[in-house]
Amino acid sequence: MFGGDVHVVWEKFCRYFDVEPRIVPLQPGKYTIGPDDVEPHIDENTIGVAAVLGTTFTGHKDDVVGINNLLLQIKSERGLDVPLHVDGASGGFVWPFLYPHSEWDFRLEQVRSINVSGHKFGLVYPGIGWLIFREKADLAEDLVFEENYLGKTDATFTLNFSTGSAMVLAQYYNFVRYGRAGYAYIMKNMQQNASVLAEKLAVDGPLRVDRPRRESSFRSSRSSSPTTTTSTSSTSPGSCRPNAAGWCRRTRFRPTPKTSRSCARWSRRL
Ligand SMILES: Cc1ncc(COP(=O)(O)O)c(C=O)c1O
Repeated sequence: MFGGDVHVVWEKFCRYFDVEPRIVPLQPGKYTIGPDDVEPHIDENTIGVAAVLGTTFTGHKDDVVGINNLLLQIKSERGLDVPLHVDGASGGFVWPFLYPHSEWDFRLEQVRSINVSGHKFGLVYPGIGWLIFREKADLAEDLVFEENYLGKTDATFTLNFSTGSAMVLAQYYNFVRYGRAGYAYIMKNMQQNASVLAEKLAVDGPLRVDRPRRESSFRSSRSSSPTTTTSTSSTSPGSCRPNAAGWCRRTRFRPTPKTSRSCARWSRRL
């Protein structure tokens, strides 16, 4: 069970693993989900609820605390123990440094697993990601394979097999080099940059800026105009001039019940 604010990886997971997705459509002006959205979809076959910490589209956070409380209530009243997974791919390296007292993680009882992309705000090149379980028992044993190709027994829990380790070293280097204080400094700096940029865009251009509310979002998102939010086009007004100047502008269409998605993010210079 998840909201329409998730990344496509969730729909992929459901299709590949033959899991029935129950997706809460988003409403105009509401880009996240909370307990009231989740409640009607839970039943005895629900294998989990996914909440997003920092959506791909706007950087907003689903109401993780509210969903956790709902799941606790369902557990005590109906005896259904539904686990909560937090997709912190985008926000997992941001929230702890900007809002250390905000609870979205294992401080909440129903949160059983968290993923976070090291190659986003973990500040490592693509593509490293982390999946953390609350306790060992949360990873089903029959999904883990033991092999001994290099002279000692290793446990493997991946879809592919061989992969490089350079990104793991790079992540380790960043952890050691920056430490908590370094990551906090960088995240605060990025947030300030984002807010200055958002102010400029709002004043100087024909753009609507969705301003981040404190602790609810870590990035400002923008759309070319409110009317483009239902566009199905993969380009949007305003992209031609920057493209001609060699800029790549990723255009993300904000999900709504139909197609939606029109939140653009500036990417790197080509
Ligand atoms: C919320 C969210 N989940 C999942 C993903 C996919 O993560 P990855 O690129 O590390 O596979 C993204 C990527 O943008 C994301 O923003």
